[in-house]
Amino acid sequence: MTATIFDKYLEVPPIFKRDRDILRPSYIPEKLLHRDEQINQIASILAPSLRGERPSNILIFGKTGTGKTATAKYLSKEITKAAGSDLAEFKNVSFIYINCEIVDTQYGVLQNIGNRFIEEFDDRIPPTGWSTERVYNSLYKWIERKHLITIPLSGIEDSIDNLNSGIVDDELISTITSNCTKINKSIPVKIDKDNYTVHKLDEDGRIIEYPEGVLELLYNNKEIKIYTKAKRIVLVVLDEIDRFIYKSGDDTLYRLTKINDELENAKLCIIGISNDMKFTELLDPRVRSRLSDEKLVFPPYDAEQLKDILTQRADLAFEEGVISPNVIPLCAAVEANEQGDARRALDLLRVAAEIAERNRDEKVTEQHVYKAKNKIELDCVIEAVRTLPMQSKLILLGILMNEEIGQSKLTTGDVYATYKELCRKTGLSMVTQRRVTDLISELDMMGIISARVKSLGRAGRTKEIVSSVPLLETKTVLLRDPMMQDLGDYKLKHQTTLM
Ligand SMILES: Nc1ncnc2c1ncn2[C@@H]1O[C@H](COP(=O)(O)OP(=O)(O)O)[C@@H](O)[C@H]1O
Ligand SMILES: [Mg+2]
Repeated sequence: MTATIFDKYLEVPPIFKRDRDILRPSYIPEKLLHRDEQINQIASILAPSLRGERPSNILIFGKTGTGKTATAKYLSKEITKAAGSDLAEFKNVSFIYINCEIVDTQYGVLQNIGNRFIEEFDDRIPPTGWSTERVYNSLYKWIERKHLITIPLSGIEDSIDNLNSGIVDDELISTITSNCTKINKSIPVKIDKDNYTVHKLDEDGRIIEYPEGVLELLYNNKEIKIYTKAKRIVLVVLDEIDRFIYKSGDDTLYRLTKINDELENAKLCIIGISNDMKFTELLDPRVRSRLSDEKLVFPPYDAEQLKDILTQRADLAFEEGVISPNVIPLCAAVEANEQGDARRALDLLRVAAEIAERNRDEKVTEQHVYKAKNKIELDCVIEAVRTLPMQSKLILLGILMNEEIGQSKLTTGDVYATYKELCRKTGLSMVTQRRVTDLISELDMMGIISARVKSLGRAGRTKEIVSSVPLLETKTVLLRDPMMQDLGDYKLKHQTTLM
């Protein structure tokens, strides 16, 4: 047997079952727990679409990890299923999900909606290059356009031969009818065989007299194309809609909420999702009132609910018995104490299991959960530090270098003096003390440092600045910045004012 460096990992029984992605936010479970009330409420608002009526627009609010996206995706699956079932009179319901964290421009949102209704690749709205006006007009034209059904001819070749000789047979009639009613049961396509005439062929293809409910019917050697009068209802979810409004304003939303006044063959309904109520203040009052026909709030989960959500996923993701009994209640309690965020609770469980796996432990225990919590917090800090602007990085590095040599509780003046020293050393341009004071406040707000105001009696007031991040790890991240590499071994010259 050949020994490999992986053997030691393979010897221990696995912790994860098949697919660890089950614990990631993108996974949508079959059943959403503790959201019946919200799901039923939204379903009752959207149900008229299955009778061909336009539902009210909806705004959904709730903190991150309260299941808003999962609910929207779940409803999308359900409504598509419902529209396909025999119960639905009206079947022509399109559900379009747009994540505005990714698509955040007017162009992008309109393009995404428009392209859903454009069958031919060549007619599609390109990803860039058109004016927004042109994109909107194209979207409008295609949504309003008659619905196209394409039936491949394979299997009904005989019917077409008959048709070519002027005979309409039962097989063809039933193929056309059943395909049309798949699109819309409420406009059944009637074909009266005896009154059915096949006209003279023209160059483009062949035209036969249209059955009732059909606007145009063309066929060539490969397929039959049917344009029907079927109306459509379009449900558009704009997830993280606040990002879109902050970035691109409300012009597009204004148009989309007004488009129904002009459309004849289609109706559009907007479902906006956001974790920030404040964005509605930016909306034109008319848009705000149209958009919030219906409003819903998703409350944070409590510990019991989180426990159920975690258990449901753990059963799918882990081998039996590898999760110690207290692990899930602990993850649920930790997160319920903070924000009731299901995503973070799931992350905590996943990271705990990954730590156990890497240690080659056979079970996930509470200790792993504590370690996971520290790791996640550290990762957050590191990410925040890594993406700081250059000047803030230099200020923070100065604070850490002081602390490293035992000089903590710095004043703003100390921080500024160290900052100047590091600027000179690296050759970076310097900002004013006023600006440095502002940047210190920003770091304070981010929780990276803590700056407490301290009275110096008659001498006035100053700030007492200490870092709130792990020194060595943070310093390593800062020194990874190419501009600061040279500061690795640098010793500070400046001596702080002793407090
Ligand atoms: N009620 C629930 N039942 C099961 N899983 C849920 C539930 N709510 C949220 N989740 C899971 O938590 C994670 C975050 O949910 P998500 O819908 O993305 O939250 P939001 O969009 O509100 O930020 C996802 O993995 C999701 O599957
Ligand atoms: Mg979401």
